[in-house]
Amino acid sequence: MCCVHLVVGVDSSVVAALIQKAIGDQLTCIFVDHGLLRKDEGETVMRTFRDQFNMNIIKVDAQERFLSKLKGISDPEQKRKIIGNEFIYVFDDEAAKLENMDFLAQGTLYTDIVESGTDTAQTIKSHHNVGGLPEDMQFTLIEPLNTLFKDEVRALGIELGVPEDVVWRQPFPGPGLGIRVMGEITPEKVEIVRESDAILREEIKKANLERDIWQYFTVLPDIRSVGVMGDARTYDHAIGIRAVTSIDGMTSDWARIPWDVLEKISTRIVNEVDHINRVLYDVTSKPPATIEWE
Ligand code: XMP
Repeated sequence: MCCVHLVVGVDSSVVAALIQKAIGDQLTCIFVDHGLLRKDEGETVMRTFRDQFNMNIIKVDAQERFLSKLKGISDPEQKRKIIGNEFIYVFDDEAAKLENMDFLAQGTLYTDIVESGTDTAQTIKSHHNVGGLPEDMQFTLIEPLNTLFKDEVRALGIELGVPEDVVWRQPFPGPGLGIRVMGEITPEKVEIVRESDAILREEIKKANLERDIWQYFTVLPDIRSVGVMGDARTYDHAIGIRAVTSIDGMTSDWARIPWDVLEKISTRIVNEVDHINRVLYDVTSKPPATIEWE
């Protein structure tokens, strides 16, 4: 029997579809909610896998577990490693409740491996799903996508009959909003990113730009600045918008979102999200920046 350890992106959906084709209902998907998901993501994932894919799926609510492990940690690499390890431990606990689980499948891409560093390349960032399993774990790890780039995974998804809206979802990294809150993660900061990100996604959808922009999200840099609301001084957070065009995530350019759409996004974010008094737009390509800020 096999489990797919589900993050919420395109890659794990394609892995799940591929394995389901091979072994049918011997597959169980485990979806770990680490408390760092986008708004309404948990429900959407459960609906997609249960209703559209007809798969066995178990959701594990592990928010407390992740947040307590991340308390006081502000270094990006340390955050990534803690989240990556915790995924495996939560998965191990859940799989122990099922019988005869011998394999763990993950949607690791070639890009994840390259950026996480090899003997010949330097680590850029440790992708949450790279690094293998701890020695004491009994599973055999399966990573069927680990020689593919994102555009190839999308083509495979279409070939396997994965619905277009799933295949064309923008990438979402395993560490989730945890690497979009700079520095220490607190529930309050995650909420600011989650709410502002939801507004950004709504406005991009309304403007019909979803297919034109490869990835778009908000980030919370750990800075505050002075503003004015009504007659009163504010001293509150700035939020960044990151939106890029790309083919495979290895390189990217910043997306030229029309000014009027940006204006709407900015106005809505400062009006609707508590503790934001300034909105920034990231106009850096990759390289020299990476797509995610951490
Ligand atoms: P960067 O920030 O390295 O991101 O330019 C390239 C692409 O990879 C995604 N990303 C991740 N995906 N686990 C993932 O599954 C990770 O740890 C991770 N880190 C970055 C990022 O969102 C972008 O699409």
